[in-house]
Parts: sequence; structure tokens; C-alpha cells
Amino acid sequence: MTTMESLIGLVNRIQRACTALGDYGGGDTSFSSLWEALPSVAVVGGQSSGKSSVLESIVGRDFLPRGSGIVTRRPLVLQLHKTEEGAEEYAEFLHLPNRKFSDFAVVRKEIQDETDRVTGKSKQISPVPIHLSIYSPNEGQPESIVQDIEMMVRSYVEKPNCIILAISPANQDIATSDAIKLAREVDAPGERTFGVLTKLDLMDKGTNALDVLEGRSYRLQHPWVGIVNRSQADINKNVDMIIARHKEREYFATSPDYSHLANKMGSEYLAKLLSKHLEAVIRARIPSITSMINKTIEELESEMDHLGRPIAADAGAQLYLILELLRAFDRIFKEHLDGGRPGGDR
Ligand code: GDP
Ligand code: NA
Ligand code: MG
Repeated sequence: MTTMESLIGLVNRIQRACTALGDYGGGDTSFSSLWEALPSVAVVGGQSSGKSSVLESIVGRDFLPRGSGIVTRRPLVLQLHKTEEGAEEYAEFLHLPNRKFSDFAVVRKEIQDETDRVTGKSKQISPVPIHLSIYSPNEGQPESIVQDIEMMVRSYVEKPNCIILAISPANQDIATSDAIKLAREVDAPGERTFGVLTKLDLMDKGTNALDVLEGRSYRLQHPWVGIVNRSQADINKNVDMIIARHKEREYFATSPDYSHLANKMGSEYLAKLLSKHLEAVIRARIPSITSMINKTIEELESEMDHLGRPIAADAGAQLYLILELLRAFDRIFKEHLDGGRPGGDR
């Protein structure tokens, strides 16, 4: 049986192996191409558009690949402060008050470390944001940390393997959505963007979002999904996720505007849609992933020959474990490939 969960589980384990390998050697090996071939998911959207809420409702399920994206494993909340002309630019984390960072590489490292502190080394994702303030005399200066961070986000969502969850609130004009602006730039055909419209319950009475949800306002290859997350009042009252999902289902089922779309709306449907898409993406890439795994195995084997066996050092032991793991992946992926042929279980 080829189930989506096991495929994603495999991808996550490969990513962990790659991370371990990266810690060991890094550099430009076939392992980095293997890493690039694996799918990732980025949640993008303007302030208060509902990113954390959407993440929360899909985190905790096992289907998301964890990836290495430091931006997506924990939300990064950026605040820009304009300072006086000629002043030095620096960044400050909310969790490290009074420590000034002037080097982007150090900022980036701290984001990674702070992410690991909350998620553990297991590369889990977490909806708990990291708050970063940047104090800068002028915008758009070439050496700016702000620009470095924008480049970092962009380089992540530009990757053809990155699936973009573009979050826009229904109570704002879709033409001004930050998420759609970014998606339009990096994925013009809308092939890897999933449009998510939050806050349907907060629209003005007598208006609806059918133009967006039915794809007339901004066309994407994948269907738009409308969402009703917990409101701030719900959060204050500790309304739990199960009740929230129940209320959301009820909202769509009884809505005069959306009841005809009810079975294609809501957080649970979004989760299903995403996981189905991920499964298809991974399945299509199995041949290239297995060939890259094999290349990595060859490189590791010659590396180990070079080091000589047996290796007492930690690094050698780690290499050996990764090699074994990759061999296991190769076997399992080949089984998946056979199971996925026409006449298989799909
Ligand atoms: P983020 O800044 O993009 O991460 O947005 P959040 O997920 O933190 O949501 C911002 C605020 O909007 C919070 O108070 C949420 O409770 C509220 N919110 C998010 N989605 C919805 C929604 O669909 N309906 C309602 N009523 N409130 C929402
Ligand atoms: Na937005
Ligand atoms: Mg947030």
C-alpha cells in the first residue's frame, strides 16, 4: 500500500539525514541537489492575514514536509523602525532584548538557533513567531538587513519545489494582498500557489467573496479555499481546535452564499488538498529522488573509503548511519515506484 503519510514520512526522514550530513560536511555535493529536489511549503501573507491561524490548523497533522526553511518553520514577524540619518543599522530580537545585531549572517544564525530551541532539533514547524525589529536610517539601502531578509524569503519561495500557501484576508481588497503580490512575482502561472481566503466571517453584511473563491478575481491552477479561523474572541475564550473546526463546517454548510461550495471549503479541506498535491508531487519525483540518493550513496561510500574503515570518530559513525539510511530510502522508494505504476493502487 502506498499511502501519502508514509511518503511524506520518508521525505521528512531524508531531510533529517540531509541536515545531519550538512552538519558533517556541507559543501556542494549531490546531497544538496537531493535537498533541493524535496518539496517544501511556505506560508506567506500580510500582517494579521491569518497565517498563524492557518498554520496552527494544519500543523500537528503529519503530512507537512518540514524542510529547512528557517522562514517557514517559525513565522518571522518583522518590524521596521526608521532611525536618524547616518545612524548604524542594527537588528534586535524580542527574545534577546538589549543585544544589537549588525551582521545579517549572525541574525540568520540566531533565527535558526531560536527555531531549534522551540521546535527541537527534529526540524518540526511551530506557529510561535520570532519577533525581529530592524532599526535603520533609510529604506532600500543596498547593504540593508531588511533587503537581506527579503532576499532570504524570496530565494525560498522562488524554488520551483516550494508550494506557496498564499493567505489573504477576505475583509481586504484582494488586489492589495501581499500574498498575491508575491505569488504573482514568483509563480505567475499559479501552478504552485494555493490561494487561501481567511476571515470570510468578517466581511461586510451583504457582500461575499464568490469572485475570489470561484477564481474570477485572481486565477490560480488550484482552487481557492475559504477559511473561517478562530476569532480573537474565540482565542481569548480558549475555544479549542475541534470546536473551531466544527463551527467552521457549520458556517459553510449554512451560509446562503457558500453552501453550494461547502464541501470544498474550510481548514480540513485545505489540509486534504495540500496533502494530495504533495503526494502527487513526491510521486512524480521518485525517479529523480532515487537517482540522487544513489549518487549520494556513491559519494558517501568513496568518502568512507577515503577515511578508511573502521572509523572510530563520531563523524565516521554518523556518515555510516546516513549511508545505511539512504540505502533504506532507496529500497523503499523503489517499492513505492513499483506500487505507483498504472494498475497500482491509485
Ligand atoms: P498572522 O499575523 O497572519 O499570523 O494572523 P493570525 O493568525 O495571528 O490572526 C490575526 C488575528 O485575526 C487573530 O486575532 C485571529 O484570531 C484573527 N483571525 C484570523 N483568521 C480569522 C478568521 O478567519 N476569522 C476571524 N473572525 N478572525 C480571524
Ligand atoms: Na495579505
Ligand atoms: Mg502570526
